[in-house]
Amino acid sequence: NGEMIVWNGEVSEVYSPICIKTVEGTNRKRIGSYPLATVVESQKALDAAVAAYDYGKGEWPSMSVEQRIECLDNFTQKMISKKDIIVKLIMWEIGKSFADSNKEFDRTVEYIYDTIQALKDIDRDSSRFQIEQGIIAQVRRAPLGVVLCMGPFNYPLNETFTTLIPALVMGNTILFKPPKHGTLLFSPLLEAFQTSFPKGVVNTIYGRGNKIVPDLMKSGKIDVLALIGSSKVANDLKKLHPKVNRLRAILGLDAKNAAIIDKKADINLAVQETLIGALSFNGQRCTALKIIFVDRNIVEDFLEKLKAELQKIKIGMPWESGVTITPLAEINKPQYLNDCVEDAKAHGATVINENGGEICESFFYPAIVYPVTKEMKLYREEQFGPIIPVVPYDNIEEPIEYVINSSHGQQVSLFSNDDTVITSLIAPLVNQVGRVNINSQCQRGPDNFPFTGRKDSAEGTLSVKDALRSFSIRSIVATKA
Ligand code: G3H
Repeated sequence: NGEMIVWNGEVSEVYSPICIKTVEGTNRKRIGSYPLATVVESQKALDAAVAAYDYGKGEWPSMSVEQRIECLDNFTQKMISKKDIIVKLIMWEIGKSFADSNKEFDRTVEYIYDTIQALKDIDRDSSRFQIEQGIIAQVRRAPLGVVLCMGPFNYPLNETFTTLIPALVMGNTILFKPPKHGTLLFSPLLEAFQTSFPKGVVNTIYGRGNKIVPDLMKSGKIDVLALIGSSKVANDLKKLHPKVNRLRAILGLDAKNAAIIDKKADINLAVQETLIGALSFNGQRCTALKIIFVDRNIVEDFLEKLKAELQKIKIGMPWESGVTITPLAEINKPQYLNDCVEDAKAHGATVINENGGEICESFFYPAIVYPVTKEMKLYREEQFGPIIPVVPYDNIEEPIEYVINSSHGQQVSLFSNDDTVITSLIAPLVNQVGRVNINSQCQRGPDNFPFTGRKDSAEGTLSVKDALRSFSIRSIVATKA
């Protein structure tokens, strides 16, 4: 509610995934701590958001779009002045390369400015009147209420803001909990929130999600759940809401994006895109390529080239230039990835590249696993790490069946230089996933494109314009002409 709490309670110590040598040995570096709010404080924050919304009569939802944009603009200026520290915190908290941490920050600022422009466009359209059958009406975009925003650790700033900013600027009030890995980086922004928006409009809670969020949902005071993260968490939380039919959910969830590499593909291009698609930021992207289907006629050639190109991928500390593989953010992740590789080996696959799958502190050396088959974890589970599972196929119907039968439906990459193959597969694929990429890796951007998915991968659509629509409703004001 616009006030910082002086905290005497429990705190969480934050250790970076980046290990540092000291006299006691090589260990994760301690980089700070944050308070662990209890249910009591988080309910107060929720009540502040409810009061600031005040059934849509509050100061913020009643403001004109120009006024809200002015507040957001003011906030963004303050945020830009904190860039150096925020970028360093992204790097230290999640091990993202310094270059990519910078990109994450810049992309977020660009996203905010694009959102402001899109909102101006929407507002201009809303000022028009239309007449139908003797009724004159103005169609407006109205807010939905209190939005609970939670982003993921892999894009802690960017993906939190891809829901928080559009929700906020549409006139909703916000309760937001930073991701567990990626909390400290919001500290430099707390004062900016406090001084740029009216009291109670943006409320930040630091705490353990599993301890505080269930009660927030049970209160029935959350109107929109905006979560980018795990499908299971989203489903569990939705069920706790006492009036689930009144809850709007905007969700970006699990994915197991497949690449399908046809025998007529440009193999060099497919190799390059597979490497970037599967390994950038250690494969810790919801859009990463997580399983690669290759026509058996070209699979040997593909694997040789993939192996050779993989050797050029740089493994190192996040501040080193040109680095792709950096320490993994989650402490248990190297062990989980190792289990996946061992499971694949037990079912007959091998790691075909030297050092693939080795663990060193929080590093996991990228592994190409071949041949992956249906029995293996890597066929089904979203590894969210630097493993490239390769599946050979005899008939292109096999990967298409995989996509159809998958519980995920975010994106697919199709590689072929045969127009007939491409055109015949677009319809079946686009009816299963949110985006089909032809001869390129999967990705979310550019951020003006709709970002969504089907089945367990998403609910609602994000992107600049779509998010503004998602966090509002079209209401009309009508009278007889
Ligand atoms: O982790 C999920 C993100 O939406 C991925 O975004 O494709 O821009 O890396 P990206």
